[in-house]
Amino acid sequence: MADEKTTQSSNAPANTPNTIEALYLEDRRFAPPTEFRKNAVLSDEDIYARAARDPEAFWAEQAEKVHWFKKWDKVREWNAPWVKWFLGGKTNVAYNCLDRHLSTDRRNKAALIWEGEPGDERVLTYNDLHREVSKFSNVLKGLGVRKGDRVAIYMPMIPELAIAMLACTRIGAPHTIVFGGFSPESLRDRINDAQANVVITSDGGWRRGAILPLKKNVDEAIAECPSIKACVVVERIGAAANITMHEGRDHWWHELMKGISQVCPAEEMDSEDPLYILYTSGTTAKPKGILHTTGGYLVGVTSTFQWVFDYRDNDVYFCTADIGWVTGHSYIVYGPLSNGATSLMYEGSPDWPDKDRFWAIVEKYRVNILYTAPTAIRSFMGWGLEYPRKHDLTSLRLIGSVGEPINPEAWMWYHEHIGGGRCPVVDTWWQTETGSILISPLPGITTTKPGSATRPLPGIEADIFDENGNSVPLGGGGYLVLKAPWPSIARTIYGDADRYAKTYFSRYSPDVYFTGDGAKRDKDGYYWLMGRVDDVMNVSGHRISTTEVESALVNHPSVAEAAVVGKAHSIKGQAVVAFVTLKSDGANMAPAEKIAELKKHVANKIGALARPEEIYLTAELPKTRSGKIMRRLLRDIAEGRAMGDTTTLADPGVVARLRDKYEAAEQ
Ligand code: WT7
Repeated sequence: MADEKTTQSSNAPANTPNTIEALYLEDRRFAPPTEFRKNAVLSDEDIYARAARDPEAFWAEQAEKVHWFKKWDKVREWNAPWVKWFLGGKTNVAYNCLDRHLSTDRRNKAALIWEGEPGDERVLTYNDLHREVSKFSNVLKGLGVRKGDRVAIYMPMIPELAIAMLACTRIGAPHTIVFGGFSPESLRDRINDAQANVVITSDGGWRRGAILPLKKNVDEAIAECPSIKACVVVERIGAAANITMHEGRDHWWHELMKGISQVCPAEEMDSEDPLYILYTSGTTAKPKGILHTTGGYLVGVTSTFQWVFDYRDNDVYFCTADIGWVTGHSYIVYGPLSNGATSLMYEGSPDWPDKDRFWAIVEKYRVNILYTAPTAIRSFMGWGLEYPRKHDLTSLRLIGSVGEPINPEAWMWYHEHIGGGRCPVVDTWWQTETGSILISPLPGITTTKPGSATRPLPGIEADIFDENGNSVPLGGGGYLVLKAPWPSIARTIYGDADRYAKTYFSRYSPDVYFTGDGAKRDKDGYYWLMGRVDDVMNVSGHRISTTEVESALVNHPSVAEAAVVGKAHSIKGQAVVAFVTLKSDGANMAPAEKIAELKKHVANKIGALARPEEIYLTAELPKTRSGKIMRRLLRDIAEGRAMGDTTTLADPGVVARLRDKYEAAEQ
């Protein structure tokens, strides 16, 4: 259970929106609109062939577009599975995101447009952002942060979050951002794994009108984090947050920023110096600290942002993700800002104060490019057309999707009702580990098909392998793999290089990156992503480990054993379902109360995002004779296929009978 082994389709969603059957029926095609194609950043198909002929030369050409203090000596060094890019090159990501634009017409252009959930707003020009980042860089230095030191960030979606991360980057201190929805325990474990010296937070954040108690969570977390020397607190809420500042350890952001110098030259970083660590769930209970480095990541996000979103200088770009996830790192902050784009950041929920909030924002700021997730799109579909129809969405010219497979119905709804039928839809496949988008249409070139992420981007060598590592011919399905490294690939798992090699490069061979995703390729070579094939769930676009939820459950004093599976869910993609056996003294309260207590326990241990949708108390868990939990049977039970009435799970014989039936059927 505890190793990173990938079990064949042990968690492949049996009924995700993209079933093979549905895809065979999908024959709609959308060519790039003529006008769009004419003005597109990329409109020449030849880029694919050019990149394939000489990937190193192709990536070197992309690298020429960013600023280097010193140019690289060597484009790539690949000792599988270890890779380095732009060796010997010196650059700084924050310099590329800020300083580089100050000598251009973009100096007074909006870099960040921010809207708070209560409706407050702030606009920071490139010059403003450069000043604030430089000042906060000096604050960090004043707190003793040096190049290479780790800084933890646990903040709501406010401009100071972007300022804090860019300040870390400016002085060469890798940040580790922890999504504000994670529990104090999850925050503690990440800080301890990264051995961060400083944590940056705020007194709270707004979420559906309520206050997220971020500082209180930090207090709880860092009581058990000996590496933390200081905590910086942004005042977002004020008195209502009711927080305590600990003398000597805690500092108000606004006080530290008072009177501090706005001059702080960007540190010249080696291309392979660490840029940030971002934790993501794997198939064990311990999250993986994905480490990204400087030069390759910068080149990856800078080029893909421009290609995929077809960014042009006056566009307003709105990515609805949270910066606590990789989407926000790469496509709210680093990719857009290194391109000199205007990136819109929204603090709150899409349904606050009403279900038209995103559309109100699109209208208010005349957003041109929107990037959101299938789970959000399916919610919008459920809420009805009255909400988008209240607003003028004609400023939009391109719309994107990320995080999970988008079912053709959701794609079509998005295309028609948000994109007005005129905007190309870019369904972008990638991962925390890939750093940047790898499979996506190029909107001025690619004819799209609803539900398909289409083709690997130029310079990306993807394939679909069968169980034995043979490439599956067009028309078939298998495991998505990448056969050559790209500049923004994660370099390691922080502090655990073995786990990195084992997780990503041992399934086939050390030069083949295993994604953990199942995919099918149609006759035209288009990729159709089918969901995870390992013990990882995708709930509303968030990666959650079944094992992590199981560990949280068995940590509860009354739980003997737990098995967790992802169940197909019409809005979330998947929902967490747990099967639990109680210790003999665990049945000390009514089952409904016990279930509620266990759900709360998981939310407290990991974060609300991991709270099981359903928990079944059962007399035993179905295991094979060799002791392996039969997850497929559990998924069938959860999705109502194996047995109609789950209340009979309490009967100790029922699970054994089901197991026998399933084992017989598998033979
Ligand atoms: C997993 C990565 C990439 C940023 C958000 C999630 C799934 C992501 C797609 C897509 C089908 C997708 C995959 C992948 N995924 N984008 N367009 N189509 N599946 O990052 O938390 O690292 O999760 O999300 O299963 O492996 P992440």
